Amino acid sequence: MPFHTDFRRIVLTLSDALDLVGVDDVGHGKRVGIMAAECAAVMGLEEDERSFLFDLGLLHDIGVSSTRVHQHLVTEFDWPEAWRHCRTGHDLLADFGPLSVMAEPILHHHTPWNRLRDEDVPSELALRANLILLTDRVDAMAASFHADKTVLAHAERIRDQIQSHSETYFAPELVAHFLEASRTEAFWLRLESPPRRRTCRPNSRNPSANSWISVTCASSRSSSRASSMPKAPSRPNIRWA
Ligand SMILES: [Fe+2]
Ligand SMILES: [Fe+2]
Repeated sequence: MPFHTDFRRIVLTLSDALDLVGVDDVGHGKRVGIMAAECAAVMGLEEDERSFLFDLGLLHDIGVSSTRVHQHLVTEFDWPEAWRHCRTGHDLLADFGPLSVMAEPILHHHTPWNRLRDEDVPSELALRANLILLTDRVDAMAASFHADKTVLAHAERIRDQIQSHSETYFAPELVAHFLEASRTEAFWLRLESPPRRRTCRPNSRNPSANSWISVTCASSRSSSRASSMPKAPSRPNIRWA
Protein backbone atom coordinates (compact mmCIF):
# COMPACT_ATOMS: atom_id res chain seq x y z
CA MET A 1 0.00 0.00 0.00
CA PRO A 2 1.52 3.35 -0.98
CA PHE A 3 2.46 5.68 1.81
CA HIS A 4 2.17 9.41 1.26
CA THR A 5 3.67 12.13 3.40
CA ASP A 6 4.90 15.69 3.16
CA PHE A 7 8.56 15.83 2.22
CA ARG A 8 9.20 19.03 4.18
CA ARG A 9 7.72 17.44 7.31
CA ILE A 10 10.19 14.59 6.94
CA VAL A 11 13.08 17.04 6.64
CA LEU A 12 11.88 19.02 9.66
CA THR A 13 11.41 15.88 11.72
CA LEU A 14 14.94 14.75 10.86
CA SER A 15 16.13 18.23 11.78
CA ASP A 16 14.44 17.97 15.19
CA ALA A 17 16.21 14.70 15.86
CA LEU A 18 19.54 16.22 14.82
CA ASP A 19 19.00 19.15 17.16
CA LEU A 20 19.09 16.82 20.12
CA VAL A 21 22.79 16.14 19.66
CA GLY A 22 23.43 19.70 20.85
CA VAL A 23 21.70 18.85 24.16
CA ASP A 24 21.26 22.42 25.44
CA ASP A 25 22.38 24.03 22.19
CA VAL A 26 19.42 23.24 19.99
CA GLY A 27 18.70 24.89 16.69
CA HIS A 28 22.11 24.96 15.01
CA GLY A 29 20.82 23.36 11.82
CA LYS A 30 17.72 25.54 11.78
CA ARG A 31 19.74 28.72 12.14
CA VAL A 32 22.11 27.62 9.37
CA GLY A 33 19.13 26.85 7.12
CA ILE A 34 17.52 30.21 7.80
CA MET A 35 20.75 32.09 7.10
CA ALA A 36 21.46 30.09 3.94
CA ALA A 37 17.96 30.88 2.65
CA GLU A 38 18.40 34.56 3.53
CA CYS A 39 21.65 34.71 1.56
CA ALA A 40 20.03 32.81 -1.32
CA ALA A 41 17.27 35.41 -1.45
CA VAL A 42 19.83 38.22 -1.68
CA MET A 43 21.55 36.28 -4.46
CA GLY A 44 18.26 36.26 -6.38
CA LEU A 45 18.12 32.47 -6.59
CA GLU A 46 14.96 30.70 -7.68
CA GLU A 47 12.51 29.41 -5.10
CA ASP A 48 13.52 25.78 -5.65
CA GLU A 49 17.16 26.54 -4.94
CA ARG A 50 16.30 28.63 -1.89
CA SER A 51 14.23 25.75 -0.55
CA PHE A 52 17.02 23.33 -1.26
CA LEU A 53 19.57 25.46 0.60
CA PHE A 54 17.18 25.86 3.50
CA ASP A 55 16.75 22.09 3.79
CA LEU A 56 20.48 21.54 3.28
CA GLY A 57 21.12 23.83 6.23
CA LEU A 58 18.70 21.87 8.37
CA LEU A 59 20.38 18.56 7.61
CA HIS A 60 24.01 19.50 6.94
CA ASP A 61 25.23 17.92 10.20
CA ILE A 62 23.28 14.69 9.75
CA GLY A 63 26.60 12.89 10.19
CA VAL A 64 26.97 14.14 13.77
CA SER A 65 25.73 11.72 16.42
CA SER A 66 28.02 12.71 19.27
CA THR A 67 27.71 15.71 21.55
CA ARG A 68 31.51 15.73 21.88
CA VAL A 69 31.84 16.12 18.11
CA HIS A 70 29.16 18.83 18.12
CA GLN A 71 31.10 20.75 20.77
CA HIS A 72 34.30 20.64 18.72
CA LEU A 73 32.42 21.86 15.65
CA VAL A 74 30.86 24.84 17.37
CA THR A 75 33.91 25.95 19.36
CA GLU A 76 36.75 25.47 16.84
CA PHE A 77 36.91 27.29 13.56
CA ASP A 78 38.60 24.50 11.63
CA TRP A 79 38.64 21.29 13.64
CA PRO A 80 40.97 18.76 11.92
CA GLU A 81 38.52 15.90 12.49
CA ALA A 82 35.55 17.72 10.95
CA TRP A 83 35.84 15.69 7.74
CA ARG A 84 34.60 12.58 9.50
CA HIS A 85 31.02 13.80 10.01
CA CYS A 86 31.00 15.12 6.44
CA ARG A 87 31.85 11.65 5.15
CA THR A 88 29.32 10.00 7.47
CA GLY A 89 26.57 12.41 6.39
CA HIS A 90 27.40 11.83 2.75
CA ASP A 91 27.28 8.07 3.15
CA LEU A 92 23.96 8.22 5.00
CA LEU A 93 22.22 10.14 2.21
CA ALA A 94 24.00 9.06 -0.96
CA ASP A 95 21.77 6.04 -1.50
CA PHE A 96 18.53 7.55 -0.25
CA GLY A 97 16.81 8.92 -3.33
CA PRO A 98 14.81 11.85 -1.92
CA LEU A 99 17.83 13.34 -0.14
CA SER A 100 20.72 12.00 -2.20
CA VAL A 101 21.20 15.39 -3.88
CA MET A 102 22.41 16.68 -0.51
CA ALA A 103 25.15 14.05 -0.20
CA GLU A 104 27.88 15.87 -2.14
CA PRO A 105 27.33 19.32 -0.59
CA ILE A 106 27.39 17.69 2.83
CA LEU A 107 30.64 15.91 1.96
CA HIS A 108 32.27 19.29 1.26
CA HIS A 109 30.59 21.49 3.86
CA HIS A 110 33.78 21.93 5.92
CA THR A 111 36.13 22.21 2.94
CA PRO A 112 37.66 25.72 2.62
CA TRP A 113 36.97 27.57 -0.60
CA ASN A 114 40.59 27.57 -1.76
CA ARG A 115 40.67 23.78 -1.52
CA LEU A 116 37.40 23.41 -3.41
CA ARG A 117 38.97 25.47 -6.18
CA ASP A 118 42.23 23.50 -6.14
CA GLU A 119 40.29 20.24 -6.35
CA ASP A 120 38.15 21.52 -9.25
CA VAL A 121 34.89 20.82 -7.48
CA PRO A 122 32.06 21.85 -9.88
CA SER A 123 31.03 25.43 -9.23
CA GLU A 124 27.37 24.83 -8.32
CA LEU A 125 28.35 22.14 -5.82
CA ALA A 126 31.22 24.24 -4.45
CA LEU A 127 28.96 27.25 -3.91
CA ARG A 128 26.25 25.22 -2.21
CA ALA A 129 28.75 23.58 0.14
CA ASN A 130 30.59 26.83 0.81
CA LEU A 131 27.41 28.73 1.64
CA ILE A 132 26.69 26.12 4.28
CA LEU A 133 30.25 26.42 5.62
CA LEU A 134 29.93 30.20 5.80
CA THR A 135 26.58 30.22 7.60
CA ASP A 136 27.73 27.33 9.80
CA ARG A 137 30.74 29.38 10.96
CA VAL A 138 28.52 32.41 11.52
CA ASP A 139 26.35 30.33 13.81
CA ALA A 140 29.36 28.94 15.64
CA MET A 141 30.30 32.53 16.48
CA ALA A 142 26.82 33.88 17.12
CA ALA A 143 25.14 31.10 19.08
CA SER A 144 26.80 31.88 22.39
CA PHE A 145 25.44 35.42 22.17
CA HIS A 146 21.85 34.28 21.64
CA ALA A 147 21.77 33.09 25.26
CA ASP A 148 21.97 36.60 26.65
CA LYS A 149 20.40 38.32 23.64
CA THR A 150 23.59 40.20 22.77
CA VAL A 151 24.07 38.95 19.25
CA LEU A 152 23.29 42.34 17.74
CA ALA A 153 26.12 43.89 19.74
CA HIS A 154 28.52 41.36 18.21
CA ALA A 155 27.14 41.28 14.67
CA GLU A 156 29.75 43.64 13.23
CA ARG A 157 32.62 41.63 14.67
CA ILE A 158 31.14 38.43 13.22
CA ARG A 159 30.74 40.10 9.83
CA ASP A 160 34.35 41.31 10.00
CA GLN A 161 35.57 37.80 10.81
CA ILE A 162 33.73 36.33 7.84
CA GLN A 163 35.11 39.03 5.55
CA SER A 164 38.65 38.39 6.78
CA HIS A 165 38.40 34.79 5.55
CA SER A 166 37.17 35.69 2.07
CA GLU A 167 38.99 33.80 -0.71
CA THR A 168 40.56 31.37 1.75
CA TYR A 169 37.69 29.76 3.59
CA PHE A 170 34.79 31.43 1.81
CA ALA A 171 33.96 32.34 -1.78
CA PRO A 172 34.24 36.13 -2.20
CA GLU A 173 30.84 36.34 -3.88
CA LEU A 174 29.21 34.48 -1.00
CA VAL A 175 30.91 36.76 1.51
CA ALA A 176 29.50 39.76 -0.37
CA HIS A 177 26.00 38.28 -0.34
CA PHE A 178 26.24 37.41 3.33
CA LEU A 179 27.37 40.94 4.18
CA GLU A 180 24.41 42.31 2.26
CA ALA A 181 21.91 39.94 3.88
CA SER A 182 23.24 40.39 7.42
CA ARG A 183 23.35 44.17 7.56
CA THR A 184 19.81 44.35 8.97
CA GLU A 185 18.92 43.70 12.58
CA ALA A 186 16.09 41.44 11.39
CA PHE A 187 18.63 38.98 10.00
CA TRP A 188 20.08 38.39 13.46
CA LEU A 189 16.86 38.61 15.44
CA ARG A 190 15.32 35.89 13.27
CA LEU A 191 17.86 33.47 14.68
CA GLU A 192 16.89 33.88 18.32
CA SER A 193 15.18 31.05 20.18
CA PRO A 194 11.40 31.24 20.22
CA PRO A 195 9.21 33.07 22.67
CA ARG A 196 5.84 31.70 23.70
CA ARG A 197 3.57 31.42 20.68
CA ARG A 198 0.50 29.34 20.02
CA THR A 199 0.38 28.70 16.30
CA CYS A 200 2.96 28.85 13.62
CA ARG A 201 3.64 27.14 10.34
CA PRO A 202 6.57 27.19 7.97
CA ASN A 203 6.35 29.20 4.81
CA SER A 204 7.21 26.45 2.36
CA ARG A 205 6.86 28.75 -0.63
CA ASN A 206 9.32 31.23 0.77
CA PRO A 207 11.76 29.51 3.11
CA SER A 208 13.79 32.63 3.65
CA ALA A 209 10.75 34.07 5.39
CA ASN A 210 10.96 31.39 8.03
CA SER A 211 12.14 32.29 11.44
CA TRP A 212 13.49 29.99 14.11
CA ILE A 213 10.02 30.15 15.63
CA SER A 214 8.05 28.97 12.66
CA VAL A 215 10.53 26.27 11.76
CA THR A 216 10.52 24.95 15.27
CA CYS A 217 6.79 24.93 15.77
CA ALA A 218 6.02 23.48 12.43
CA SER A 219 8.21 20.57 12.92
CA SER A 220 5.72 19.46 15.30
CA ARG A 221 5.66 20.16 18.37
CA SER A 222 3.06 21.78 20.08
CA SER A 223 3.39 25.29 21.25
CA SER A 224 4.15 23.99 24.72
CA ARG A 225 7.26 22.24 23.45
CA ALA A 226 8.35 25.34 21.62
CA SER A 227 7.82 27.54 24.63
CA SER A 228 9.90 25.24 26.79
CA MET A 229 12.80 25.15 24.38
CA PRO A 230 16.05 25.71 26.29
CA LYS A 231 18.03 28.80 25.64
CA ALA A 232 21.27 28.59 23.77
CA PRO A 233 24.01 27.98 26.33
CA SER A 234 26.79 30.23 27.36
CA ARG A 235 29.92 28.72 25.96
CA PRO A 236 33.41 29.90 25.05
CA ASN A 237 33.62 31.94 21.91
CA ILE A 238 34.86 30.12 18.87
CA ARG A 239 38.62 29.99 18.39
CA TRP A 240 39.38 31.54 15.05
CA ALA A 241 42.07 30.32 12.69
FE1 LIG B 1 29.36 20.33 10.02
FE1 LIG C 1 27.13 22.61 11.44
